Amino acid sequence: MKDILTAPWMVEMIRTPTNMYDHGWDERNGGNISLLLDEADVAEYLDPAQVLRTIPTGFEAPALEGKYFLVTGTGKYFKNVQYAPEVNLGLVRLTERGTQAELLWGYEDGGKFTSEFPAHMMSHVARLRVDPANRVVMHCHPANLLAMTYVHDLDERAFTRTLWQMCTECIVVFPDGVNVLPWMLCGTNEIGEATAEKMETARLVVWAQHGIYGAGKDLDETFGLIETAEKAAEIYMKIAHLPRVNTITDAQMHLLEQRFGVRGRDGYLD
Ligand code: 13P
Ligand code: ZN
Repeated sequence: MKDILTAPWMVEMIRTPTNMYDHGWDERNGGNISLLLDEADVAEYLDPAQVLRTIPTGFEAPALEGKYFLVTGTGKYFKNVQYAPEVNLGLVRLTERGTQAELLWGYEDGGKFTSEFPAHMMSHVARLRVDPANRVVMHCHPANLLAMTYVHDLDERAFTRTLWQMCTECIVVFPDGVNVLPWMLCGTNEIGEATAEKMETARLVVWAQHGIYGAGKDLDETFGLIETAEKAAEIYMKIAHLPRVNTITDAQMHLLEQRFGVRGRDGYLD
């Protein structure tokens, strides 16, 4: 068996939360990540028959039966992942229609997966339906996106249009726009179901007064997606209180669509 800490996906799963912490997106235990792995990737580094313990998930997700996920632990600090990955991360396999998670590695202090496991797993199901290449769900608390939910209309079209107008390449990076959930109690199956429903039409879902969810094919791409939206929100928070003299017009957005071969969400551009 190879050393699991040298697996390329493990190296990325250590670098990414470290980088997110450095960006100020994950104070204390804020934020969580789940990465879908293939059995073939995992089998090089551990014996899939060796189950350390079984943890009930509290929900059903039959579509994920037999699937492997590397997931950040609940209450764990992103800044500490690099120093003790085997405590702050865990590798689980879902069984029994997704109601049980078999721990194969990690959570060495007796811990378990993030309290946002329902939102993560239900979002994986939703994204895999529209994009079979999806592997990552990522949640964090970036300050400007959060701030924006206090002062901007939460209407999804309006919120998306504002973000698209803040940086030329936003519409290219997230043409589906940003979906928005009103404040809801976090860590519940209800917010998980609501997030997954929003994930059917966009890869970014804002949780008002809380944070954001992103989904993508790898950790780097998903990080970049959130990074782009957060940059746009930062610009909005710098200019929101000033008179708007210039903007990116819808006609210019259409030029971007043509140049980059993307299509903004139906009905979002005039
Ligand atoms: P966990 O520590 O359970 O991952 O929760 C952090 C968080 O961001 C909740 O939304
Ligand atoms: Zn959170």
